[in-house]
Amino acid sequence: MEERLQKFLAEMGIASRRKSEELIRLGKIKVNGKVVTELGTKVRVGLDKIEYNGKILEKKEEKVYILLNKPIGYVTTVKDQFNRNTVIDLLKGINVRLVPVGRLDMYTSGALLLSNDGDFINKVTHPKNEIEKTYNATVVGKVTEQDIEMLKNGVEICENDKIYKTKKAKVKILKIDNEKNLSRIQIVIHEGKNRQVRKMCEAINKKVLALHRSKIGEIDVKDLQLGKWRYLTKNEILSLTKE
Ligand code: URA
Repeated sequence: MEERLQKFLAEMGIASRRKSEELIRLGKIKVNGKVVTELGTKVRVGLDKIEYNGKILEKKEEKVYILLNKPIGYVTTVKDQFNRNTVIDLLKGINVRLVPVGRLDMYTSGALLLSNDGDFINKVTHPKNEIEKTYNATVVGKVTEQDIEMLKNGVEICENDKIYKTKKAKVKILKIDNEKNLSRIQIVIHEGKNRQVRKMCEAINKKVLALHRSKIGEIDVKDLQLGKWRYLTKNEILSLTKE
């Protein structure tokens, strides 16, 4: 997904790699509205706006939209600085560069979208579009109706060293296992604060043992094995992007 600006320019047919470097040095290229003169600059193809001579350079790449059922143990990133397994490693057979749409923690499984369509990614991740995400959490102990009410009405969590009250959520108990002293609850939220569901469960003093995102909007991973992916249908893409 990321590549050096001079490589991008050369691939776009603007000039040879060496001449493209010259254009960058001369301040002829803008990235997201700003002149870039640094040669090592990396750009996110399909996301960054790259301009030369007042024209926006767009790689005509087929738009790809994928639903992955992420297993635990994979990092939601394109390249991991510690060389851990990433969700991209699971996309065998795909030879376009995709980026994850939002993220799931390393130890959360379930629905994760990936795409190379910047507009789609912005739409799906923008909080104003309020796309519902459905999580199933297995927690230690017995969740009470009072806990559920608290989660529904919003609880205080810590976000970037500040207290944040979560927005109203849909929450229900799926199962209480008295023998194992576990509860399974379903939480539907349309926000995406860092580790939000885990923090919400902590706010009701419940430790999360397992967390799975079963749905994004109406798109469900129940028919996909963990670690497998499929293309989104046209209707699914529309369901996430319609105004
Ligand atoms: N909430 C979490 O706590 N973790 C995730 O991966 C997603 C939502």
